Amino acid sequence: MCGIVGYVGNKNAQDFLISGLKRLEYRGYDSAGIVTISGDNKAALIRAEGKIANLEDKVAKNKRDDKIGIGHTRWATHGEPSEKNAHPHKAGEIYLVHNGIIENYKELKKTLKEHKFASETDSEVLAALVESFYKGGKYPLADAVVQALKLVKGTYGVAVISEKNPDEVVVARSGSPLVIGVGNGETLIASDASALVGHTKRAIYLNDGEVAVIKKDSIEVKTLNAEPVSAKVEEIETNLAAIQKGGYEHFLLKEIMEQPESLKETLRGRLNVAEGSVRLGGPGLSEGELRKIKHLIIVGCGTAYHAGLLAGYYIEQFTPEITIETVIASEYRYRQAYIPEGSVALIVSQSGETADTLACLREIKRQGVKTIGIVNAIGSTIAREVDGGTYVHVGPEISVASTKAFTSQVIAMVMFGLTIAQAKGVKSTILKPYVEEIAELPEEIRRTLEDTNEKIAEIAKKYKDYEHAIYLGRDTAYPTSMEGALKLKEISYVDANAYAFGELKHGPLALVDDRFFELALVPEGALYEKTISNIQEVLARGGHIIAITNTDFDLPVENVVRIESQIKIFAPILMNLVLQLFAYYTTVAKGYNVDQPRNLAKSVTVE
Ligand code: AGP
Ligand code: GLU
Repeated sequence: MCGIVGYVGNKNAQDFLISGLKRLEYRGYDSAGIVTISGDNKAALIRAEGKIANLEDKVAKNKRDDKIGIGHTRWATHGEPSEKNAHPHKAGEIYLVHNGIIENYKELKKTLKEHKFASETDSEVLAALVESFYKGGKYPLADAVVQALKLVKGTYGVAVISEKNPDEVVVARSGSPLVIGVGNGETLIASDASALVGHTKRAIYLNDGEVAVIKKDSIEVKTLNAEPVSAKVEEIETNLAAIQKGGYEHFLLKEIMEQPESLKETLRGRLNVAEGSVRLGGPGLSEGELRKIKHLIIVGCGTAYHAGLLAGYYIEQFTPEITIETVIASEYRYRQAYIPEGSVALIVSQSGETADTLACLREIKRQGVKTIGIVNAIGSTIAREVDGGTYVHVGPEISVASTKAFTSQVIAMVMFGLTIAQAKGVKSTILKPYVEEIAELPEEIRRTLEDTNEKIAEIAKKYKDYEHAIYLGRDTAYPTSMEGALKLKEISYVDANAYAFGELKHGPLALVDDRFFELALVPEGALYEKTISNIQEVLARGGHIIAITNTDFDLPVENVVRIESQIKIFAPILMNLVLQLFAYYTTVAKGYNVDQPRNLAKSVTVE
């Protein structure tokens, strides 16, 4: 969670720190702070509760021309969001920013009698621990950081500076991302490469267990055990346009509207429509290995989990003799699940940094099972640790609510399923309809967004005051309804829950009254009649129904959104666009913060 930035060079450090924090604000935004140090060893610590804008105001009143500094935007885990709990934390001459959780902070705190604690955070304990080894500059800062980190249990990305050494920043990571930007006469630090865009194209991604001493013209990377590491400099692919709103009022709307293009990127070079086949470069499994797959474990959290559920429904339609188990990472990591022979795991994550998903990846790998990443963020931890993978290539997703990543995750996984089916010798007549529809999807997505946008905005206004919603679907429309409900609840704070239509009679039907509205997904297909009967049951109990359908529909519900498209198999993907727009417009109508909903952050690097 949270964002870390750092700077050492010849330019104004405050300027980079504030602009970098703004780019990272989506990762955590309950408080923020920076510290810079002048050439004559004087630190200026500025912190503020709330958004970066508050910090920016304070910094504007306290402008300095320091050339080194670190900054942080927080997503509180220990202690309320407040100025005193905001990072950087000070201990003696050192200042520290931390992303993650120090699990043994209580025990460590007991040993740090000399430090007067000013915050409730676990991070200040780490600052004090570093200082206890640094002893006011008696020992090198990097050594002190290493000694401290060896005693720590938990996760961290840290950056530390000292008034005594105003030419270096020490950084380290275990479980939380850290990227070092290699500039000309300057070195930059960020927990996410997007903060570096426009400053440098060259970056070093630190690995777990590594520590680096950063100066304006040198970067020295070592392991915590003092073994030197020859760090690889990689190119940052993101460009400025990808991380700006580009004329849209919110990132969320931009990212919803971007889906025709972002899905095209996912498909680029991977489909052969004439043959009805797909070709994925990344998974790194031979034909023989693909043929032997009997069981797929799909692991993710939140939207990535829903994408896995939906993809699982599809893959089992065309892949014979395969079982699929889609699991929530935070649960799976602590289960004693038996992994059968012939298993492969798909690790699904937009950010590639989600702590629970990463933990599952490591455990599954430890058991000798092949792991395949379905990841968006290039160079992220999960992308680097999986055995093989398929990037979804949707570009940066900034809004906390995930939209374009979902669509592409589903399709990337379906393409992986098709790859297995091909290897298992499934006839191309069975697979071709899937490939053909996938090829048409970008254009059909564009059309659906265009056709439904205004209507959804109107409907959202009508329903904005409801506090409860029930999302309903069958078959592939069921995981879709789960994803739609998540979207509504996370940004508009409506208590939205999804149920399989067939489950209504087993409990949820009792909820139907005037405090609720129901969002029913009604795709054409074998289960259409059954879905219609279910809707009748809700109608008979006075339900306030919005139906989303791609076929004829003549029940007297309050609203019908009709999607006109030739897409049949993947109609739920189109319906999900409507659900995304509905959540967006409901949130706008309620006047809430669309891109940064309360209590959440984009990248969940803590458990
Ligand atoms: C989606 O709208 C959420 N904000 C959240 O559920 C997200 O999908 C989840 O945290 C997983 O993130 P990841 O894809 O980066 O691993
Ligand atoms: N655990 C730390 C805190 O509560 C860091 C949280 C973060 O990653 O922002 O301050």
